[in-house]
Amino acid sequence: MDEAAARPALVDITSVTKTYRMGDFDVHALRGVTLRIAEGEFAAIMGASGSGKSTLMNILGCLDRPSTGEYFLDGAEVSRLEADALAEMRSQTLGFVFQSFNLLARTTALENVELPLVYTGLRPALRRARAKEALERVGLGERLHHHPSQLSGGQQQRVAIARALVNRPRLILADEPTGNLDSHASLEMMALLQQLGDEGMTIVLVTHEPDIAAHARRVIVVRDGLIERDSPIEAGRWTEAPRQAGHPAAPVRVASP
Ligand SMILES: Nc1ncnc2c1ncn2[C@@H]1O[C@H](COP(=O)(O)OP(=O)(O)OP(=O)(O)O)[C@@H](O)[C@H]1O
Ligand SMILES: [Mg+2]
Repeated sequence: MDEAAARPALVDITSVTKTYRMGDFDVHALRGVTLRIAEGEFAAIMGASGSGKSTLMNILGCLDRPSTGEYFLDGAEVSRLEADALAEMRSQTLGFVFQSFNLLARTTALENVELPLVYTGLRPALRRARAKEALERVGLGERLHHHPSQLSGGQQQRVAIARALVNRPRLILADEPTGNLDSHASLEMMALLQQLGDEGMTIVLVTHEPDIAAHARRVIVVRDGLIERDSPIEAGRWTEAPRQAGHPAAPVRVASP
């Protein structure tokens, strides 16, 4: 991670907590997370159900604010921004991909991808050209006028990736992007994300599957609202970091066959 540490942090989170008030109880979803992600990194977040992955992604994605702690995104402190400013940061800096694609059904691939540009003031011809370019980038140049129902699951998720890319974001956030795909389409999706990573895009994805995480270059394991492990992935493998200074590292964990 030395190489990554030398680059400026795109995501810089320090001691972030998130507490939800539920009636008389406090739910401590994040209990002090410090995390830096450099430009160009491809990181996978793993962890058991309820460990805080989506809460962390919501904060990373400026959909929610930390209860305490700091978040600098691309050098700007976003932890204390008001809703409007957060929304603007979101639309200018971030691209989102969801488990359930979230495409408009009665709309072509091209129109779906164009949608985030509608409010940017770009001229329609330029919007269309940018949307076409994004669809070509994900290998769907031949499917511009198909509706979602005329596309496979993997192709629909590629449309969603094109839609995330069309604003030229600095960071792509994907929460379980392969959750609704079969294993073949999942592998294609990961190959596409790797390709975007190789082109310099910064990507953070949440997954439950070690085989999917193994396609990233770094794995961050969240447990009970804390980062339990943060390791580089080399050739599909990662090593368990020692929990405390002085403890020997746990055995190598093989993430993929
Ligand atoms: N809006 C909310 N209000 C109250 N509690 C919440 C809220 N959102 C999440 N929580 C709680 O915070 C904790 C972390 O939830 P989170 O959704 O981040 O988990 P997760 O790791 O994404 O789980 P999963 O793998 O099931 O998606 C859980 O105990 C959850 O019940
Ligand atoms: Mg979740």
